[in-house]
Amino acid sequence: MSTIHPDAPTRHPVADSDQVTEGGRHIVDLDAFTIGLFRFKGTLYAYENVCAHQGGPVCQGRLVHRVVEMLDEAQRSTGAVFDEDELRIVCPWHGAEYSVATGMHPTQPDFSLRAFPVDEEGGTVYVTV
Ligand code: FES
Repeated sequence: MSTIHPDAPTRHPVADSDQVTEGGRHIVDLDAFTIGLFRFKGTLYAYENVCAHQGGPVCQGRLVHRVVEMLDEAQRSTGAVFDEDELRIVCPWHGAEYSVATGMHPTQPDFSLRAFPVDEEGGTVYVTV
């Protein structure tokens, strides 16, 4: 079991690489933290499983692509489509959304997830806490 030393960030092995699938997530416990690992477009991300709104288990929420309203020349809606270039986490408690790539809420810059450095080597994912 890993132990966290706040004054000396340490790189911890937390998962096998194949547990963090493309477009998916894997939740791990690391000492006092629960961390959501995500892989989107080949890049890994790691966030503390705490929503900036009221502390909900945000990393366990639905993963959905951004919805974009399509407009015609007269600015009339022609329907909505998914933007495959942006994946969002939707907090299961009250629906706050965060970009997987940035950890930021799309419209409230003071709402963001706590990110941890994450990398992988030799088939293992490491988080530095
Ligand atoms: S706690 Fe996440 S939206 Fe409220």
